[in-house]
Amino acid sequence: MSKSLIDTIRDRRSIRKYKSDPVAEKDLDQIIEAARLAPSGTNRQPWRFVLLTDDSEKQKIAGAVIQPFVLEAPAVFVCCLDRKAYTKGLVEKRMKELVQMNVISEEAAGYIYKRKMPEKVDEVVIPAGAYVDLGIAVEHMVLAAESLGLGSCWVRLFNPKQVHEALGLPEQVEVVALLPVGYPAESPSPRPRLSREEILLWPQ
Ligand SMILES: Cc1cc2nc3c(=O)[nH]c(=O)nc-3n(C[C@H](O)[C@H](O)[C@H](O)COP(=O)(O)O)c2cc1C
Repeated sequence: MSKSLIDTIRDRRSIRKYKSDPVAEKDLDQIIEAARLAPSGTNRQPWRFVLLTDDSEKQKIAGAVIQPFVLEAPAVFVCCLDRKAYTKGLVEKRMKELVQMNVISEEAAGYIYKRKMPEKVDEVVIPAGAYVDLGIAVEHMVLAAESLGLGSCWVRLFNPKQVHEALGLPEQVEVVALLPVGYPAESPSPRPRLSREEILLWPQ
């Protein structure tokens, strides 16, 4: 029987030691599917990923990675944002879909249409909401991995510009995080967390 979501959340740890066994393609597909299904502001779905599994591919980004465990994982997702998702044409397209499906009213959509939106991708300044959206998608991947018996670790301590260059990614894409994935070769104890009282400002 599969674990409940709350147990999956409770049992997850950041894993920094992996077995060398490759991750089955169907499991990698499920992890990508978990990202694909994530919610996002105006359903813009700004996330993009590069999946590195071959040693030669992983080595391309070795110079940008600070913690060696990242490239010891059998699979590494490079998690990115696509500026194009924030161009006027695409935002309006997504908004129209939501209006047509009666998800958002014409009036609410009007507020978005009124916003100044860049027509060209090179004019886009990635908004804070984009990082929220990508964070949700990546955490979906983390939890999907955990539910499949795989370990992962969010990684932001690396040089994103160097990864961008090493992989020859399009200009419009910004690299944000790495997510190494593999079978855990460690079972860390829970890391400290703030108490309920510390995080719940109201009611106390
Ligand atoms: C956005 C984000 C960035 C992180 N970056 C790194 C990192 O670069 N290197 C690393 O070893 N761990 C990184 N972590 C993992 C955290 O250290 C870890 O989540 C935290 O210590 C709590 O431990 P746990 O995930 O095992 O519960 C990151 C976590 C998040 C959410």
